[in-house]
Amino acid sequence: MEIKGSTNVVALIGHPVEHSFSPPMHNAAFEALKMDYVYTAFDVNPNDLGNAIKGADALNIKGFNVTIPHKIEVMQYLDEIDEIAALIGAVNTVDFKNLKGYNTDGIGAIKAIGDVTRIKDKNVVIAGAGGASRAISFYLAKYGVNSLKILNRNVEKAQNLAGDVSDSGLIDGVEADSIKNMDLSDANILINTTPVGMHPNVNDTPIASTEMMHEDLTVFDAVYNPNETGLLKEAIKAGAKPVYGIKMLLYQGAESFEIWTGKKAPVDVMEDALTRTLGL
Ligand SMILES: NC(=O)c1ccc[n+]([C@@H]2O[C@H](COP(=O)([O-])OP(=O)(O)OC[C@H]3O[C@@H](n4cnc5c(N)ncnc54)[C@H](OP(=O)(O)O)[C@@H]3O)[C@@H](O)[C@H]2O)c1
Repeated sequence: MEIKGSTNVVALIGHPVEHSFSPPMHNAAFEALKMDYVYTAFDVNPNDLGNAIKGADALNIKGFNVTIPHKIEVMQYLDEIDEIAALIGAVNTVDFKNLKGYNTDGIGAIKAIGDVTRIKDKNVVIAGAGGASRAISFYLAKYGVNSLKILNRNVEKAQNLAGDVSDSGLIDGVEADSIKNMDLSDANILINTTPVGMHPNVNDTPIASTEMMHEDLTVFDAVYNPNETGLLKEAIKAGAKPVYGIKMLLYQGAESFEIWTGKKAPVDVMEDALTRTLGL
């Protein structure tokens, strides 16, 4: 990659950012399409977020990915928020063409699951009620699932999210319950958005009994370290279809790439780079 006077800059902002997988994934895409772009990362202290957005706009930076802890706070510095990002209440992508914020996390999960099964009219159980669950739940509602049940350790948080998604008008009657009461007998899709099973606790699973998984189930685990979590291993044993967390990472990046550049993302190239970076 040659950096020239004309090179366009896109970047990740967060605090911290040094362990991000996004720079190699996007730079591989720019190289493959011979685009005069570079993707880097900036560690931005929360107190400097407003200045960072104004400065980036002044420097003609083309786009940002936004990660923890700035996904909510960044919205106040933007001119426009995409409709579903506004419902989610968090932004992970900024397009400086119009200073507009988007959330591509949810669509990333939808595309990952959509690779192996249809989402419309399905019964979905989602474990967790944090940021990832929120982003995915609104998109599930938008994509016309038949039912959505949000399960969480802290039930009140699940109830609040279920209320917000129902209030969006995209879906009726989202249910909420304790994660301990998980029942998958009528479920077609199970999504884990808790960190349970993440390295080093690789044998933990977020469900009380793995016996409840069945052949008509698709299981998506947002955890991508390890690639094949304990939950996915058990899902495969049960004859369920696994969807790997890395795919969400890939498709959220591809979506952001398309927002900034207006070009179709080279998903295969990005997946290769991601796989290499993760050492898979
Ligand atoms: N693949 C991807 O692209 C991608 C993208 C985003 C996130 N993720 C992964 O998704 C996971 C969640 O991220 P997030 O941003 O949503 O985090 P978050 O906002 O902190 O939410 C975490 C959720 O997990 C629950 N939880 C935490 N520890 C638990 C435990 N020991 N047992 C049961 N539930 C537990 C929390 O429940 P309480 O409310 O009861 O605390 C909460 O609902 C992380 O592992 C992250 O790496 C993956």
